[in-house]
Amino acid sequence: MDIQKLLSEMTLEEKLGQLTQLNAIFFKKDNTADITGPASKLHITEQDALLSGSVLNFIGAKDMKEIQDSAIAQQPHHIPLLFMQDVIHGYRTIYPIPLGMGCTFDEELVEDCARMAGKEAAVSGVHVTFSPMLDLVRDARWGRVMESTGEDPHLNGRLGAAFVRGYQGDDLKGKYDIAACVKHFAAYGAPEAGRDYNAVEMSEHALREYYLPGYRACVDEGVEMIMPSFNTVGGVPSTANKLLLDQILRREWGFDGIVISDYNAYREMVKHGLAETDKDAAELAMNAGCDIEMMSATTYLYAKQLLDEGKITMEQIDRAVLRVLELKDRMGLFENPYRAANEKEEAELHLCEEHRALVRRAAEEASVLLKNDGVLPFSKDLKKVAVIGPFAAEKGIKGFWACAGRDEDCVTVLSGVRQLLPDAEVATTPGCSWELGETEIPDLENAVELACEADAVILCLGEYQKHTGEGNSRATLTLSPAQMELARRVIDANKNTAVVLFNGRPLVITELAEIAPAILTVWQPGTEGGNAAARLLFGDANPCGKLSMTFPYTDGQCPIYYSHNSTGRPVKNPKEITQNGYCSRYMDAPVDPLYVFGHGLSYNTYTYDNLTLSTDVLHAGEELEVAVTVKNEGKYTGKEIVQLYIRDKFASVVRPVKELRDFAKIELDAGESAAVIFTLTEEDLKFHTASGAFAAETGDFEVMVGSSSDDVLKATFRFEK
Ligand code: BGC
Repeated sequence: MDIQKLLSEMTLEEKLGQLTQLNAIFFKKDNTADITGPASKLHITEQDALLSGSVLNFIGAKDMKEIQDSAIAQQPHHIPLLFMQDVIHGYRTIYPIPLGMGCTFDEELVEDCARMAGKEAAVSGVHVTFSPMLDLVRDARWGRVMESTGEDPHLNGRLGAAFVRGYQGDDLKGKYDIAACVKHFAAYGAPEAGRDYNAVEMSEHALREYYLPGYRACVDEGVEMIMPSFNTVGGVPSTANKLLLDQILRREWGFDGIVISDYNAYREMVKHGLAETDKDAAELAMNAGCDIEMMSATTYLYAKQLLDEGKITMEQIDRAVLRVLELKDRMGLFENPYRAANEKEEAELHLCEEHRALVRRAAEEASVLLKNDGVLPFSKDLKKVAVIGPFAAEKGIKGFWACAGRDEDCVTVLSGVRQLLPDAEVATTPGCSWELGETEIPDLENAVELACEADAVILCLGEYQKHTGEGNSRATLTLSPAQMELARRVIDANKNTAVVLFNGRPLVITELAEIAPAILTVWQPGTEGGNAAARLLFGDANPCGKLSMTFPYTDGQCPIYYSHNSTGRPVKNPKEITQNGYCSRYMDAPVDPLYVFGHGLSYNTYTYDNLTLSTDVLHAGEELEVAVTVKNEGKYTGKEIVQLYIRDKFASVVRPVKELRDFAKIELDAGESAAVIFTLTEEDLKFHTASGAFAAETGDFEVMVGSSSDDVLKATFRFEK
């Protein structure tokens, strides 16, 4: 398609239509359905809507084809629509929430899952997914931590790039490749007080050093689109933030893809108090560098006036329209507007055994064994098992943003256990509901009786999927009084109890961690959650996930993360409450969290030995090899995530006490050992220095290698320019 020629023939209205994204409902023949939210107040006619260049929120190939046909027929130049959707952790076959995927530390698995999701989405007509979400998350109160891979910039960047590779394949050339859109640029994960949509206030140093690298890794990987966040950064909503969109994204990073606003974000700038009118909002967003406006039509309505007043230029509009048309062209939509949409393939691929097997493995590898006094794995010879708790037979375990995923597709823990142990007697009761703040336990006595009679108890506790995700921030992160009382009574009745925790964020489970013999968090595990949990509990799979986000000891510690700066008055023992004043302490809680970043047990013990460095002095341009021997001292084959951290001991700005710089996931048979070798170069030591440069400074470094951020072997070296 000759895009330049097409552009030259388009009217201004048609061009502005390409820069507007609406809900699919506008294109339905029967569009009398209830349109909720801002859509009802867009002030555009049905005819205007038909000019829009892309849609979101449609389900399935049939839906897509109908909408595409009607759009092409009615648009003056018959330009096909781009179909976009939030395919966040699967399309119909759902894998664990991204926070769980973070705990896999597994780029290959993430890439495979993203490719599987992309394929299922592509046959349902999706061209672009609003994923990956790369917001750095350090405050578990924020409901959207579930969408991120976690608290660490290095891990997020590596997994984010893997998501992009999985979706986009070889430059969108493959039939099932879809375009990715990294979001929410920037620092949406650091809202004040952990409350969604709230302001973000941070130094440019922290922004550049910790919050931007994840998005940057996706841009470097060739991500097609980026979505600015709702929040303000330094007082300016990202949608109109020139530092972010123009200076950093376009000029410094050289991003030339599409910038699409978040849902109704242009008009929300009026509520923010930045734009006085919708027209101002359009001007501010366009001049900052936004291309497509999602779910409002201020560009469409006011760009002509803004042009006449000289507030924006035709070149700006043409550049943005070209970006949209070029993506359509590269995806082959002018030749084949349905692209991969195909009802037959939908039926074959969605929930097929191959996809189920992949998401089951993902759910196993995302699960983190937080505690095990030795009760796990349970024997498969048990005669009587009790599966108790509000999540025992709960199918709502796919998590927020599961796109076309359905609760009814999900395997519960109860069915997983019954399938794995066909000869055992498996009794169950929810005991109580999963409602937040629940105090009633209607079936307490029965639950206790079942626990007493069972050889082992699987206690399924946690938070429901709708209690995390967008708009679902929490001020307290504890389990409800009912769930805790149920736990006390059941564990008291049977010490052979393992807790399976369903959660979309790190929860405060300090008391539970004291009384429960074992705790396995499965997050919101997706379609195959119950099978994965059963296989892990009974030893058919060996837990290997490591936390990608810290579990606080108490809510008041939030935000909390391993990679903090040292204060001038650190406490002597951060694991205990200190009586001494005038140090960086809490009077009523330890400084350390309950479970640190990188923590996660296995049914094996892995020992770390012989940390050796190839040189004491690393010179610029050279390499330093860091070697360690890891041995599987256990009885099972298992995977271990070997983590490498560094500390820059003295620098022109204070550096974190440790920072993840590399990791390796290895598999070892019982008794086997392996040498793991990492390579460090000057690149790994760079940071934003006091003078604003991104550089490594001459000086002493500590390198730490181990099985979690607080279980490491240490060595030192010097870096010299
Ligand atoms: C969310 C985005 C999402 C968009 C479209 C917004 O409310 O913040 O993450 O991509 O809706 O569904």
